[in-house]
Amino acid sequence: MFATKITGTGKFHPEKVMTNDDLSKMVDTSDEWIMQRTGIKERRIANPETEYPSGMAFYAAQDAIKNAGLEPNDISLIIFSVTLPDYLFPNTASQLQTKLGISNECACMDINAACTGWVYGLQMADALIKTGVHKHVLVVGTEMTSAFNNWEDRSSCVLFGDGAGATVLSQNEDNDGAQFIDSILSCDGTKSGSLILKKGGSKSPITHEVLDNKEQFVSMEGQIVFKNAVKTMSRHCATLLKRNNLTTEDIDWFVPHQANLRIIETTAKLLEYPMDKVICNVEKYANTSSASIPAAVHEAFTDGRIKRGQTVLFAAFGAGLTSGAVLLKF
Ligand SMILES: CC(C)(COP(=O)(O)OP(=O)(O)OC[C@H]1O[C@@H](n2cnc3c(N)ncnc32)[C@H](O)[C@@H]1OP(=O)(O)O)[C@@H](O)C(=O)NCCC(=O)NCCS
Repeated sequence: MFATKITGTGKFHPEKVMTNDDLSKMVDTSDEWIMQRTGIKERRIANPETEYPSGMAFYAAQDAIKNAGLEPNDISLIIFSVTLPDYLFPNTASQLQTKLGISNECACMDINAACTGWVYGLQMADALIKTGVHKHVLVVGTEMTSAFNNWEDRSSCVLFGDGAGATVLSQNEDNDGAQFIDSILSCDGTKSGSLILKKGGSKSPITHEVLDNKEQFVSMEGQIVFKNAVKTMSRHCATLLKRNNLTTEDIDWFVPHQANLRIIETTAKLLEYPMDKVICNVEKYANTSSASIPAAVHEAFTDGRIKRGQTVLFAAFGAGLTSGAVLLKF
């Protein structure tokens, strides 16, 4: 068995900033309401002509591969987490493969576990690296939430932003102790209606009526999502700690999904984990779904907060309702 190490990280956020004040000109809301309920100040909005999911992912992935000290052709599998892809098919990973100039015919797949997608991808990549099937796997989380946001629904449009995060996972050849320790994934499909894009799939194709009623956009029951997010993420983290004989004091950094500050604070409180060791950038970028953790990890690793040898815990939650947590030595 091989140990899995995060060898490279990268991120991309579009240049265009949309502040809470900008939003208050579009819907009946205010900076004060959004800050108080979510801790979000602003979000980035992709240019649909160049910064659709594979376009944003290209910048993040290019950096992650470079930071890992690799060439694009060293990658033998791309796992691309995306909720609303470039196309329904072919998959977005194949579009990224071409953009990166990968000519080795590496395997490409998309996964959709909404905001938990990157964490789902990590567990899969770890299993394939551990067993020697792959040596270097690119796991990307990229989301263009502005494409499924209903800009007339104040209860959801204030929450989301666009962005990309990318991570290269490799067989650890450095003998430095970096390794995946444990992970846990879950889904409760009985609550899938609480966060859903109802129309546009095979079951309910787009019709004139759908467009007239704006049903091609996200719909959400915020309080159900909130309660399940904090309950499930804290439960998964506690399970990982317990089954590895660790306590919260052994965790150097907790990087939760950046959904909103109240969810992050409540989860940390349930875990009895101090907020000053929680990586948080939701104020600047809002909820970028499956891009949020890898982008936050890249920021914290680049600015020196997360260091090699530290023990780090990730936890995510999203539509499905999916959830997951990963414990690793960085
Ligand atoms: C969405 C969320 C912030 C709403 O907060 P809340 O405290 O549950 O607020 P409610 O939905 O009960 O709404 C309270 C009031 O604020 C109003 N409101 C909703 N959005 C508003 C906005 N952007 N600006 C101003 N008022 C708003 C509601 O209409 C309601 O008004 P009413 O009392 O007159 O009916 C909260 O439920 C949440 O964070 N949920 C999790 C969402 C999430 O993170 N989803 C992604 C997970 S991956």
